[in-house]
Amino acid sequence: MRAETVVCGTLVDYRGVHGEGCVVVEDGVIVGITGRPPSAVNLLDYQGQGVYVAPGFIDLHVHLRGLGLSYKEDEHSGTAAAAASGITMVADMPNTVPRLSTAKTLSEKLQALERRSLVDYSVYAGIPGSLEEASRLASMPIAGFKVYPSDLLDRFDIVRAVLDSSDTLIVVHPELPEAEKPLVESNSSRTMHRGCHWETAAVELVASLQPRARVHITHVSCPSALERARLAGFTVDVTPHHLLLQEWDEDCLFRVNPPLRDAHHSMLLLERLLEGMVDAFASDHAPHAVWEKSEPLTCRPGIPWLEAWPQMLYCLVEAGALGLSKYLWLVSRGPARILGLSGYGVLETGARANLTVFRPGSGRVLAPELSKARHIPYFMERRCMEVLATIVGGVVVYHEGVLTGKTGAVNPFSWREGAHQRLHREEVSS
Ligand code: NCD
Ligand code: ZN
Repeated sequence: MRAETVVCGTLVDYRGVHGEGCVVVEDGVIVGITGRPPSAVNLLDYQGQGVYVAPGFIDLHVHLRGLGLSYKEDEHSGTAAAAASGITMVADMPNTVPRLSTAKTLSEKLQALERRSLVDYSVYAGIPGSLEEASRLASMPIAGFKVYPSDLLDRFDIVRAVLDSSDTLIVVHPELPEAEKPLVESNSSRTMHRGCHWETAAVELVASLQPRARVHITHVSCPSALERARLAGFTVDVTPHHLLLQEWDEDCLFRVNPPLRDAHHSMLLLERLLEGMVDAFASDHAPHAVWEKSEPLTCRPGIPWLEAWPQMLYCLVEAGALGLSKYLWLVSRGPARILGLSGYGVLETGARANLTVFRPGSGRVLAPELSKARHIPYFMERRCMEVLATIVGGVVVYHEGVLTGKTGAVNPFSWREGAHQRLHREEVSS
């Protein structure tokens, strides 16, 4: 019998390099790992070419926009860009127009993702206005809830109740509402006004509520906040920009929340990463239209990263600072664990057949062409590996520079008939 899809190369995951071999896929699931390629309907054979076959990358913090913000990005353009950089699953943020904090808007968003996403997906719900709505949202196929600084002021009681629900993932933007002033200001004054004290105080506040939920602190930019989060038992992610960029640049392209820090802080953050204190990379891909990024004092915060960040952060591996296994933890297994997904981030029989095939080296410098946010600044052009293929649920979505127009994308939080039932929520303690 011919296998559905077979992908061969140097097999690797966060446990290390397993050697040359092939991943055999049926019905969206890895059904075998073999030494030689069996006969297959779809065969990608990169054996002996210095090409890695790894578990698919996961970005647990992206803004795909869509709905009323489709002029910035939508579920198709954003996930096309994700697929081109080897990302096989994204978790989308709820600060859309309208906000994803009612069952109605959330189902519209889930439908749009189901129709249009090229990679596995889920979405976080925004904090709603009532407890009844919060339990309605919690029963939907979401990855968790997202808490924004304004929620700590406007919906504090609901935040507290949600933090008390033991089986939920709560992703927190760690800044207090006082840091968020609608000021007309320069990047450097934002860096000063939105300093590390607000970030650390936000983590402190959440910790003081003694949450029973799984709390994840996203885009930690300050070493003090990172340390406080770990002390409380929270997981943390860091973005490429807070690791590798500094606050000196006044250009709108560098405006982001939380703001970029100085060289001392970004270096300490990098040190903490290399010491193993960070659970995942996440991009906070935050696309805006070019006209929204053009006026230095009033431009919208956010950096569009899909289509570039895994290739750029691989430079840490190339430089010898980060081991390949650790990189694969941070881009794949780590985010899978935070999301509570088993069968993601590992190369083994029974796992979901999401695969990223890449070759170390500078590769081609591609002009961004899939995301609607094409104003990717020059610093993102540095790439230390090239993605050759992206496979989602055993379907080749992206191959050597071309989107194939096919996908096997699912929302792993919707339990469906067939192969996907084999995936189950993973207990956070495992
Ligand atoms: C976010 C966005 O554009 O949605 N921007 C950002 O700089 N991270 C919103 C936000 O978190 O402030
Ligand atoms: Zn964000």
